[in-house]
Formats: sequence, C-alpha cells, structure tokens
Amino acid sequence: MEQQKIVETMRELVGASSVMTAADDMAPHLIDWRKRHTGTAACVVFARSVEHVSKVLAFCDANGIRVFPQGGNTSVCGGSVPDASGQSILLNLGKMNRILDLNADNNSMIVEAGCILADLQQAALDADRMFPLTLGAEGSCQIGGNLATNAGGTNVVRFGNTRDLVLGLQVVMPNGRVWDGLRTLRKNNSGYDLKNLFVGAEGTLGVITAAALKLFPKPRAVATALVGFEAVETAVKVGLDLQAAFPGELVGLELISKSEFEISLRHAAKARNPFQSTPAWMVLVELAASAGTSEALADRLAGALEAPSESGQIVDAVVASNEQQRGDLWNIRHSVTEANGREGMGLTHDIAVPTYLIPAFVAQAGAALAEHYPAAVPVIVGHMGDGNLHYIAMFSHESWAQVADKPDTQSKVSHLLYDIAAAMGGTFSAEHGIGSLHVEEMSIYKNEQELAMMRQVKDLFDPNDTMNPGRVLPPRNASATASHA
Ligand code: FAD
Ligand code: LAC
Ligand code: ZN
Repeated sequence: MEQQKIVETMRELVGASSVMTAADDMAPHLIDWRKRHTGTAACVVFARSVEHVSKVLAFCDANGIRVFPQGGNTSVCGGSVPDASGQSILLNLGKMNRILDLNADNNSMIVEAGCILADLQQAALDADRMFPLTLGAEGSCQIGGNLATNAGGTNVVRFGNTRDLVLGLQVVMPNGRVWDGLRTLRKNNSGYDLKNLFVGAEGTLGVITAAALKLFPKPRAVATALVGFEAVETAVKVGLDLQAAFPGELVGLELISKSEFEISLRHAAKARNPFQSTPAWMVLVELAASAGTSEALADRLAGALEAPSESGQIVDAVVASNEQQRGDLWNIRHSVTEANGREGMGLTHDIAVPTYLIPAFVAQAGAALAEHYPAAVPVIVGHMGDGNLHYIAMFSHESWAQVADKPDTQSKVSHLLYDIAAAMGGTFSAEHGIGSLHVEEMSIYKNEQELAMMRQVKDLFDPNDTMNPGRVLPPRNASATASHA
C-alpha cells in the first residue's frame, strides 16, 4: 500500500493529532538511545486508547502492514525501532499512561502500558506500598516495555523478574481483537496461563495495553553497603553467604569490577569514590525490612561483614549511614550504562550462568579476550544474585577505529563469550531480550524443538507476520532488517 494512503487511514482511525509524519519529529523514535540501530516508518502513531490500538492493528493485519510497538525506547538490543522497509507503522504507547486502579488492600494496581516505571514506583509509595521493579532506565522506560521484555533489574534476587510481578494483562492481538485478562487474582488455575506468553514476547505476539500488577509492603528500613574484594571468588562466596544470612531481607546483590567502577566515577554526574583505594571487585548489597529502623538493619549488615573482614576475605567496606550515602552508591551503579557509552566502544553482553560458576566464567572469558582481542578491556557489572553478568569488551575509541571489519569483530567477540556461557549451561540473553540484535543467536543457541514451538506460537497468533517482524525469531521474509551501526 502506498505510504500516503497508510498515513491517511491512520489519521482517520486515531485522529490527525495522534499521527506524526514530519521527519524531524519522527527522528528520535526511529533511532535507539545508543544510536546503534535505525529504521524508517510511514508514520508514528500515538495510541490514546485500547480502541485505537485495536483499529490500527486490524487495519495493518488486513493490509499486510508491519507494526512496531514502542515504549520508552530504552531497549539495548535494537527492539524499539522499526525495520528499514519504510512501509510500517511505529505504534507508540506513551500517551496511554493512566493508573486505572490502585487497591492497597488487595496489593494490586491496574495501569496502562505507557506508564513510566518511576511514576508507578512513586504511586505505590504514595499508597504506602512498593512496586519493586527497579532499573537504571526507570525514568524513561514504560511498564508495557518492561512487560514485553520481561525486564530484570536490581531487585530480581528478592522479587523476581517483571513476569513475577504480573497478575493480569490486557492485550490487543495482531488481528485487532482485544483479550481482556485484567484480573487481580493471586490464584487462577483455569486453563493455560496466557499472560505469560505475552510477557517476554517483545511485542511479537500482540500489543500489551494494560496490566494488573502486584504491590508489596513499603519497606520501613533499608541498609546498603558496598563491599570490596581482591578476588571475584571471594566476592561471590561472601555475597551468597549474605543472601543465606538475610532470607527475605536481601533485595539487591550487584557485582562491579574495578574497571567498571572507575568508568562510572569518570563519567557519572556527582559520583564520588567512597574508597581510598578502589578494590578489584565490589559487591553492592541492599537489605530491606518491613519493620525496625534503618540504623538497626545497617548494624546487622555491618555485623555480618565482621567475620569475613577479619578473615581477610573482605578488603574494605562502606555501609551507607543515610539516604544521601545510599543514593550515592546506587548512583555509581545505575550510571554504568551511560558511562560506558561515553568511555569508548563497549561491546555489551547480557549472559547468565549458574551463580556459583560466575568466577569460572570471568576467568575463562578474560583469558579468551586477552588471547584474541588484547585491545579490549573486560568491564563487568551485573546482577550477581541472579548469575547475570553484563560483560563488556571495552575498546577505546582509538583502538575501535582501527578495527577493519567491525560487524564481524562484534559477532566474533560475542560468540567467544556466548560459547563459554553456553558450555556452563548459561544463556546469551538473561534480561535484555533478543530485539533485532540477537536474532542470529536464537538460531545458534536455542535448540530446534524450542525454535519450532516458538515459531508455531507466532504463526498461530500472528499468521500474517505483521507484529514486530524480525524481532525474536528470524523473519519469514528476511528482505527487510534494521540496520546496525
Ligand atoms: P522499548 O525499548 O520501547 O521496547 C522494548 C521492546 O518491547 C520492543 O520490542 C518493543 O516493540 C516492545 N514493546 C514496548 N512496549 C510494548 C507494548 N506495550 N506491547 C508490546 N510490546 C511492546 N533492562 C533490564 O532488564 N534490566 C536492567 O537492569 C536494565 N537497565 C537498563 C539501564 C539503562 C540505563 C538502559 C538505557 C536500559 C536498561 N535496560 C535494562 C533495558 C531496557 O530499559 C528494558 O529492556 C526495558 O524493559 C525496555 O522498556 P521500554 O519501555 O523502553 O521499551
Ligand atoms: C544494568 C543494565 C545494563 O544492569 O541492564 O545496568
Ligand atoms: Zn542489568
């Protein structure tokens, strides 16, 4: 269908003010925030209601027009920008941002997909509750995007991934039909658990328009410490001991290498080094409790650090004694992604292995990188409690400029690391998803039966392949793919 006809129809369906066509206006929606993935679209459509989404999808399905849903555009794997075909709609959910219900007694809230994550966290706190999903992009990412990617973040070790925080969903299917599954029940074994098909599907099976989410008691006490180690082995050992020592109270367990810490200190606004001499490895640990005071909890945390300090396993530690210090520690942690972008060309990986194999992964990956790509510095940060490491092969801008075949180098570095993770029973994508960047790895690292079942589900839900084609699964028609810089 002609581009002008697509645009005119969109204007009829959702109103002219909700359809963007000017190139300058569309530009920020057609490139990801790291400026590594670009695409094109006939127009950007801002849905304002589930009816809008339904009408747009029904029309596109009937006419073979591709639809690319977009939330906060914070994807780190090229999932949030359209392909290069131009004959597509970018469907932005950001205007659907109302909290429809918040029931503190039921510990639940029902929200539209375009709500910014930080706004939902705040709404829960205002109701004396907590919505625990926490990640560096929380000021921009939307709950619809979090659900679509099954986002992880820094509280997974206690509260699970986004999947674990969902009670129900409303989804518009690729043919425009609406599935209303917005229940707030804790138990419901009445057939297949459909919502879990859409969580983590990255918009390939339908558009999430609203969700019923779990709330938790608001913590009364919080204690945070940054603990330093000479070796990753002791960091993991002591970290897992702390997890066992504070069941139900340990909510965050993050690992940071010295190289990553120093990058964050260099580039993050207002970052200060709490150590006189930066340890080789650091673990950021956070406890939260629904009773008692933060001071008492911090004392218990400091107490638990005494024995491993005396035995020499811990080389240095700072326990935050107020909110400012706590914020400072998390500022360093949450600034890593943007800081890495300023530092150089970081090839980021989102692997997971069984927790106890983290030291083995770090050793093998470091040796492989040193042998094959000595210019790359290993920069490591991750959700240690989940066995999830963001392993970054950091090239300086100068050394990256000298790399002749950049796409080939990226792919070779990645497969070196993914092969090591796979041999340990690990994964190449723990929390960021597949997007358009990792489609190739799906064919390599998932087994045939897994891929076949996924393809069958996709074919059943989206027989015309209009929903986010080229994401997650290889496209049936592989002619148009997003371009990776
Ligand atoms: P987008 O990036 O816009 O879209 C992501 C995918 O979801 C796309 O495939 C899109 O088509 C689809 N989608 C979006 N909305 C919908 C919808 N309503 N229905 C159907 N499909 C939809 N991720 C983590 O898991 N853990 C982290 O700790 C983490 N930290 C980050 C820190 C920073 C600084 C940044 C920039 C990113 C981080 N991310 C992290 C990655 C990213 O924030 C998450 O993947 C997030 O869940 C994406 O949400 P979004 O609203 O930006 O979605
Ligand atoms: C983080 C993102 C990159 O953990 O997932 O900071
Ligand atoms: Zn992460």
